[in-house]
Amino acid sequence: MNHEINPQMNQGMNPQMNQGMMNQGMIPQMNQQMNKAMMNEEKMGMKDESIMEIVDALNITLANLNILYVKLHNFHWNVVGMGFFDMHAKTQELYEHVAEMLDGVAEKIRMYGYNPLASMQSYLKVGTIKEAPSENINATTVANIIEEDFEEMLIGLKELDEIAKDTLDECLINMIADSMCFFEKNIWIMNAYKTR
Ligand SMILES: [Fe+2]
Repeated sequence: MNHEINPQMNQGMNPQMNQGMMNQGMIPQMNQQMNKAMMNEEKMGMKDESIMEIVDALNITLANLNILYVKLHNFHWNVVGMGFFDMHAKTQELYEHVAEMLDGVAEKIRMYGYNPLASMQSYLKVGTIKEAPSENINATTVANIIEEDFEEMLIGLKELDEIAKDTLDECLINMIADSMCFFEKNIWIMNAYKTR
């Protein structure tokens, strides 16, 4: 993994993270949850290196989700032809879901004590999904590209899952599983759409 994607990753866990949240007048129940989370973290016995590996992989997923968010808007606006109504509506459904996913990934990175990548420049640098030109495109081509990109997302998520399953972070493992289900289901939908 390339730790150069975020200079903070070389600094280990940010000790101010939990302290900062504690100082913000969080309600007792949330403090309890936080203590529990910290205990889990100790039980995980996760070294800074393992955390950095997860954060690196999460940042790549975050970058790809952001690129997809823009790309799906591109298709939403530029799709033309017979499939317009279907694909115009479908791409909106997809980018709305992707928006929720990318927020969850960024917040997970914060929970590990790091700042998520947060610029288009950084997303394009570390992401593996390629942008599309702004031009008229037919719905079948859109379905093909979405299918390819979602396959690419699955590859990244499987790599992330390999790292995450060695931890006790059930929320992360569930988040990855939910994301995989979303991409798998929509690969099937795009495939069915193209079938004549
Ligand atoms: Fe719209």
